[in-house]
Amino acid sequence: MCGIFAYTGKKDAAKVLLNGLVSLEYRGYDSAGIYLPESGSIKSAGAVDRLKKKIPKTGFTGKSGVAHLRWATHGEPTELNAHPHADCDGDIWVVHNGIIENFRELKEKLIKAGHTFKSDTDTEVLAHLIEEHMKNEKTFEEATLAALNEIRGTYGAAIQYRQDPERIIAARMGSPVVLGVGKGERFIASDPSPIVPHTKQVVFLEDGEVAVITPDSHTIYKLDSTQVKRPTLEIDWSAEEAQKGGYEHFMLKEIMEGPEVIRNTLRGRLIPEKGLAKLGGLESVADELKKIDRIIIVACGTASYAALVGEHMLEEYAEIPVEVELGSEFRYRKPVVNERTAVLGISQSGETLDTLEAIREGKRRGALTLGIVNTVGSTIARETDAGVYNHAGPEVSVASTKAFLSQLTALALLTIFLGRTRKMSAKAGKEIARELLALPEKIERILENRAAIERLAKKYVKAQDFLFIGRKYNYPIAFEGAIKLKEVSYIHAEGCGAGEMKHGPIAMIDENFPTMAIATKDSVYEKMLSNIQEIKARKGKVIAVATEGDTEIGKIADDILYVPKTIEVLSPILNVIPLQLFAYYFAKEKGLNVDRPRNLAKSVTVE
Ligand code: G6P
Repeated sequence: MCGIFAYTGKKDAAKVLLNGLVSLEYRGYDSAGIYLPESGSIKSAGAVDRLKKKIPKTGFTGKSGVAHLRWATHGEPTELNAHPHADCDGDIWVVHNGIIENFRELKEKLIKAGHTFKSDTDTEVLAHLIEEHMKNEKTFEEATLAALNEIRGTYGAAIQYRQDPERIIAARMGSPVVLGVGKGERFIASDPSPIVPHTKQVVFLEDGEVAVITPDSHTIYKLDSTQVKRPTLEIDWSAEEAQKGGYEHFMLKEIMEGPEVIRNTLRGRLIPEKGLAKLGGLESVADELKKIDRIIIVACGTASYAALVGEHMLEEYAEIPVEVELGSEFRYRKPVVNERTAVLGISQSGETLDTLEAIREGKRRGALTLGIVNTVGSTIARETDAGVYNHAGPEVSVASTKAFLSQLTALALLTIFLGRTRKMSAKAGKEIARELLALPEKIERILENRAAIERLAKKYVKAQDFLFIGRKYNYPIAFEGAIKLKEVSYIHAEGCGAGEMKHGPIAMIDENFPTMAIATKDSVYEKMLSNIQEIKARKGKVIAVATEGDTEIGKIADDILYVPKTIEVLSPILNVIPLQLFAYYFAKEKGLNVDRPRNLAKSVTVE
């Protein structure tokens, strides 16, 4: 989730752009860059501060330019890969948020046509493609439209041509783009936060639209060149509200991003008609993967609960023995590991020290090391032999929500990928692939119903304790529901396998100790109903997460949160969402600092 920002007007463009980048930093910042047609480009690895230090005190001036904050998806987060990217002659400059899926084939074609590439990014292809079209006597605008019609994937982009510095072209497909309309100035950005200090008048672009801005005009087209008329909107958001997309907290914003996150994790990786998954990041170890007979997944916190779901998925469908270990435990044991073992680290940040050290321990013992990591270029991503990136975008809220959905999705992809080279049938592969693709729309339905979850959180907000129970695929989701509530609301919450309840936790149950029971229609549904009965017999209150259309459960549970039907193996991806929302609204109702809970850190780089 990179941030783009562009300006054309009368002010000092370097100042406007650099200040704007600071308000986009929440989107991720592994490198940054700026281009002013009158002064050239400056880039740096790291956050905006490092870029600012590289800008000379005098001489870097201009009235227009494009700028970028990168959150890497293709290519390491180095200065070389930082945007803006240019064509061969340094005339066309592009900043881009998104992924150009067909960049490899386009790059090959352009190299054959004589273009020289400087970076490993997918973005650079767009600059060269426009250059190629301009060779055929097309204007900058015509060439840009032609190039956009050739690329596949997602983009929120701004493009500038050195010989026409007042004009900037913006384009949107899947990644947000907003235009700012000021007096004698225009802006393009990934969200309104860098624009609102200058003007409240904005136009949101829609997918497949291109906008051409100059200081005094803006015109919107569709990719087929037909013009679009759209009035400006007045927004009264502060810069901070704009960063949160109008939501009160990042945690809610990130939960609401669920459908998009699943689409981004799946993009280009499924061949549903064949029931296959394509994981480019694992191709280099394809031969080693055929030889492994055991996987040890190492992770911490929420990632470790994703790992437990992964254990179920991989054992059931890929028939590979899997163990899950906390990074902090594995690294101090004497585990039995050999060259037929794969140690798979799951980590949003890619920096959690215990997970990293567990991977290093695995490597020392001869294992193949793999990662499911969200942050490109992080230490775990660099040190593992191969891996799968989540493409979930940066997560700002300390409590992990969208990264968890993405981890589960990546594990389902890995299950198909490994399973289909082993005994998994094409039929099973097709079924999971089809259902994975249907998940975003189902998640949208759960999110639409969030007001009901908020009401429920208000109803139970006096509770000092909460039990979460589930079985089989949803056993780890009970733990995840409990950790979410603990993290953000500071009350005692416990996750428990529903069958294990009678061996201890049930002793705590009374009318003041409610239970959240994950009881969707699956192979252990009947067993869950019995466990709910056991709690009811002890006067415990029960909120059930149940499948839409289930009328049976209403007879025993006190409250119900419905989720759409899906296949059992993917049910955790839907079932966790009401639990995330419940924790969010519960903490909000208590007036707590939801995004920054006390005593916790987003990335734990100490033991
Ligand atoms: C911290 C965060 C958790 C996260 C855990 C693992 O405790 O607060 O939300 O699950 O670290 O982080 P990782 O970046 O390795 O997924």
